[in-house]
Amino acid sequence: MKLVTFKLQFCVLFFSLMLVLSGCSTTSDSASPRQTVTLTDGWKFSKEVKGDAFAANFNDSSWEKVSVPHDWAIYGPFDKKWDMQKVAIVQNGEKEATEKTGRTGALPHIGTGWYRKTFTLPKFTEGKKALLVFEGAMSEPQVYLNGKKVGQWAYGYAYFYIDISKDLVAGENTLAVQLTNREYSSRWYPGAGLYRKVNIVVKNQESFEQWATYITTPTIASNAATVNIKTTASGSGIYLVTKILDATGREVASHKSDAVDQGFEQNLVVPEPKLWSPETPYLYTAVTQLYAGDVLKDEETIKFGIREIKYEPQKGFSLNGKITKFKGVCLHHDLGPLGAAVNKAALRRQLTILKDLGCNAIRSSHNMPSMEQLELADEMGFMFLAESFDEWAKPKVENGYHRFFEDYAEKDIVNLVRATRNHPCIVMWSSGNEVPDQYGAEGLTRAKFLQDVFHREDPTRPVTVGMDQVKQTMESGFGALLDVPGLNYRVHLYEDAYKAFPQGFILGSETASTVSSRGIYKFPVVQAKEKQYNDLQTSSYDLEACSWSNVPDEDFVLQDDKPWVIGEFVWTGFDYLGEPTPYDEKWPSRSSYFGMVDLAGIPKDRFYLYRSRWNTKDETLHILPHWNWEGREGQTTPVFVYTNYDSAELFVNGKSMGIQKKSKATPQNRYRLMWMDVKYEPGTLKVVAFDKNGKPVAEEEIHTAGKPHHLVLDPDRKTLTADGEDISFVTVSVVDEKGNPCPTATNQLNFKVSGAGTYRAACNGDATSLEIFHKPTMKLFSGKLVVLVQSGIESGDIQLEVTGNGLEKGMLNLTAKQ
Ligand code: GAL
Repeated sequence: MKLVTFKLQFCVLFFSLMLVLSGCSTTSDSASPRQTVTLTDGWKFSKEVKGDAFAANFNDSSWEKVSVPHDWAIYGPFDKKWDMQKVAIVQNGEKEATEKTGRTGALPHIGTGWYRKTFTLPKFTEGKKALLVFEGAMSEPQVYLNGKKVGQWAYGYAYFYIDISKDLVAGENTLAVQLTNREYSSRWYPGAGLYRKVNIVVKNQESFEQWATYITTPTIASNAATVNIKTTASGSGIYLVTKILDATGREVASHKSDAVDQGFEQNLVVPEPKLWSPETPYLYTAVTQLYAGDVLKDEETIKFGIREIKYEPQKGFSLNGKITKFKGVCLHHDLGPLGAAVNKAALRRQLTILKDLGCNAIRSSHNMPSMEQLELADEMGFMFLAESFDEWAKPKVENGYHRFFEDYAEKDIVNLVRATRNHPCIVMWSSGNEVPDQYGAEGLTRAKFLQDVFHREDPTRPVTVGMDQVKQTMESGFGALLDVPGLNYRVHLYEDAYKAFPQGFILGSETASTVSSRGIYKFPVVQAKEKQYNDLQTSSYDLEACSWSNVPDEDFVLQDDKPWVIGEFVWTGFDYLGEPTPYDEKWPSRSSYFGMVDLAGIPKDRFYLYRSRWNTKDETLHILPHWNWEGREGQTTPVFVYTNYDSAELFVNGKSMGIQKKSKATPQNRYRLMWMDVKYEPGTLKVVAFDKNGKPVAEEEIHTAGKPHHLVLDPDRKTLTADGEDISFVTVSVVDEKGNPCPTATNQLNFKVSGAGTYRAACNGDATSLEIFHKPTMKLFSGKLVVLVQSGIESGDIQLEVTGNGLEKGMLNLTAKQ
């Protein structure tokens, strides 16, 4: 049995002053010797390119003006022709190739696109160093500066940088980036273009190497923690001064190293350390300064945390000495109506919803997370399983990562680890998901090779692989060599795997894959696999899964009864574009049904099933289905209640339907309260919950709604930052005259934004909708949708007006502040 102990913490570059100049935000202190320029506005983009678009003097005046992060495909239109794949999805057990229409989202991401931008860097003078840093570019970027090719990369999710010190000029520079997305290269919507930040870092010759600073906390006690800082820098006779600041900015430790060349290691002592955890996401800041003589040559400001992680046989995972189970969700990188273009407000909203769920961990399936997501996970308190690949050398899709594996896998992991290892949120790495290399001797060699690269770059965290070929990996030794054996689904094999593998614990690296459509219920209510309906929706009674997957309750049993199961990462927290299982072959399904929360960010019923277990602070008492069943009068319409209470009584129009109590009869009986024989009659459904002593402690009711009458607008935030990027997510619901939500309404709504903001997008969470997100009109789905209102760069009031035929209009005032 292995005992794995990891202690550590981490970082995020952070600079104190933000200047906006000609389409660039400069994040550097005017006194700082280093300047980081983010290339945001003023980009030109085209997919229709004639001539040498890389040339400095190329005429791009007819190209579209865009800002970066940008996803060229999200503006649609949806069309089944995009990346239509005639394939058998082998990992789903398919044997014959069939036409898959919405597999990658049915949006126009395929093809070549060009981005061009001119810029000047006043702080760049001869003799300085400059790096061009991409945090992701979808995909196969070819990079040109002033007409000359300066670099390239392959994987669209990878972070990479190019040394452009010799190619930058003091005056105007022209950057051109070509991106190409091939058909058959993804299993979900990848997005397209420069969808994450592009930065230029200008620094002195004597400066830190890129992503070289590595902060760990090898010893932690209540009175003191040691902070170990390793870094490399170029220059001779240079020395390092480090200060550690607590969350209030107060200096708590400092150290000056002797003058050396290049490599540094320091140990600082933080007295009475405050530990990082999801409940207490306390962050320290390390300010590392590089001096030559008295001259400050370079400076980095890195956030980190102090926390201890341990993975032990039988006991499982502990954080700061406390056994902790991962109550995690898998997330793809797209942000629904924003596509893949990263946006911090959208990520913050996702995490706010997940906090309320009681979720404590995220898996970035199946690729490198954005820096913004890691920064927020550090600040808001989420543990993170950072994944790298969905494929190694053996293909899942014809043009997938296997084309790059030999040349890039090590480089991609090195950049992933070095760029992110200072984040306290990351508690585990994943080198792969359901890779076909689980078969064969070379697969074993690759698993070891990749794990060794992770260990070399970061000895403080373990490595997992999400395995679906569990029997195979038990026999071959593949599962035994991993630090953390991760099982994707296959609840029936947990026990065998636990016995067969030497680690002494099992992670549910991917669980459930239950499908549901928000607000849609199907009758009769029965558990089913691969169930399809004519309307291409799935039932929110949460009893439908895939042939390889299961309903949530089956995972809960393992999580609760087996102390050696260290937690789960549910597929998925939010719906995502592409992979519309069980309708992979049915147009117009174009986004997933797997989320606990829909593509618009509105929770489905399933959210409350998980919340009733995971959120141990707040009460959950949620009734389903809705109670508007005209035409079902007198018919059996089961009622489920998701609650943290053990028992409850249900009333239909005041008549008791009896008390239900959780029991171990079946997994569903253990986690849900279910009244299977209720006959529908319009009116009021009321539930009264009891505590352990049978005392009524909480109640909830829902009503049959009348005709749609007016609109209710509910923003997640009313005050935005006037930075041109902030977004308020406004949930729009239609209600009857008395204010009861109309759960089946599908009215077409129109949106108008005026004042200091703009209309950005709308989304209704309907996986079959072909209405494109950025047009200011959309139909309600199950009575709701979400409108995204974006701030401009001026302070002021913003008005959102929502109208729909025959409905009283909805008005909302928001504010943007500098
Ligand atoms: C898993 C896979 C995920 C997703 C999921 C759907 O096997 O790892 O990426 O495809 O199935 O159930």
